Amino acid sequence: MQVRRLRIQNFRNHNDTTLDFCNGVNFIIGANAQGKTSILEAISYVCMTKSFLRSADVNAIKNGASSFKLSAEIESIRGTTFHVTFQHEPSNGKRYVINGSPISKSSDVVGKFPIVVLSPENFGITGGPPAERRKFLDMLLSQTSHAYLEELSEYQKVLKQRNRILLEGKISGEIDKQNLRAWTEGLVEHGSKIVMRRHQFVEEFNTDLKEVYLQIGGEGEDPNLSYSPSFKYEKVSTVREDFLKAVEQFRHMELSRCVTLVGPHRDDVLFDINGMPLLRFASQGQHKTFLVALKIGEFFYIKRKTDETPILLLDDVMTELDYARSSKVASIIGQLGQSFITLTDSVSFDTNMIGDRDARFHQVKEGSVVYQHA
Ligand SMILES: Nc1ncnc2c1ncn2[C@@H]1O[C@H](COP(=O)(O)OP(=O)(O)OP(=O)(O)O)[C@@H](O)[C@H]1O
Ligand SMILES: [Mg+2]
Repeated sequence: MQVRRLRIQNFRNHNDTTLDFCNGVNFIIGANAQGKTSILEAISYVCMTKSFLRSADVNAIKNGASSFKLSAEIESIRGTTFHVTFQHEPSNGKRYVINGSPISKSSDVVGKFPIVVLSPENFGITGGPPAERRKFLDMLLSQTSHAYLEELSEYQKVLKQRNRILLEGKISGEIDKQNLRAWTEGLVEHGSKIVMRRHQFVEEFNTDLKEVYLQIGGEGEDPNLSYSPSFKYEKVSTVREDFLKAVEQFRHMELSRCVTLVGPHRDDVLFDINGMPLLRFASQGQHKTFLVALKIGEFFYIKRKTDETPILLLDDVMTELDYARSSKVASIIGQLGQSFITLTDSVSFDTNMIGDRDARFHQVKEGSVVYQHA
């Protein structure tokens, strides 16, 4: 898939910017605070109805404007062209339209135009709390499986209700046992499917990760990821009953703490290199290498599962990698699908490293593209 053209209106510091992209590597170049990340953010909106930044939609409306509008021409791997628009106006909310037809549920869009994002916001995946790694799993799996996305959304609804019952029980001094049982059943039903899917994913994804890491990492570094679910299960076929048993075991603690203590919302994924946990031992460069390998692995995984080539959005990626590693990363990126790379100056990254892949340079200044050339 490729984004051929993008128009950005009243978005961040962009007034009205149009970009024509090449099918290979698109370098978005400019000094700090000129509007580079905003361009990647706009691509994220048109591909999956949301930003990859932790920022509310309303914050992206250009100061002084009442709404923003993003329009893109996207071509699928099979050559079909989609005209996509995304608008946000506080009084009317979001409006996402594909080829003239409004789409009311964003879950119907997620995965249609798959993207892989690597930005400073992702640094928490290897170095932050478990929630960051769950988010990584969920984003990746949601883009490859609509069923997963639906399970996740059902699970979140059930979890909220179940926590409400626990809290009301604490306040009134009497728990509504029947209601709690019903929500526990829902929790186990949806949660088990999520756990099984994550389990299966981690096993399969380890191969992708090792292959990519081998190409970019240092000599003799063997990366590994392992699933760390919130409860123990013997094998995949017993997840359901083991989940239920774990809920039973935690019942008293749950009643006193008023929250659901077991389930996929408490999962983690552990990363290590040569058996040494990344969280405790890795250097900055190793964190970054691991993260880049996870993201390129994500690219291959999504491509395999969806028969569509995801686009890559790489924001401030090359900092902290030594020359050898960043050269290897660049040469791999050159072989992937369409990609977008922000650079603060052209010196920090030797653009020749991407090989003979199509490349285009988009120079950004004060919310405008001042020139685009091959
Ligand atoms: N809603 C908004 N209205 C107007 N300007 C905004 C809005 N939101 C952000 N900005 C500004 O837009 C500018 C561009 O931001 P952006 O993150 O795209 O910069 P950048 O080129 O990626 O910079 P850096 O190299 O520092 O990452 C910044 O000056 C930012 O403060
Ligand atoms: Mg930026």
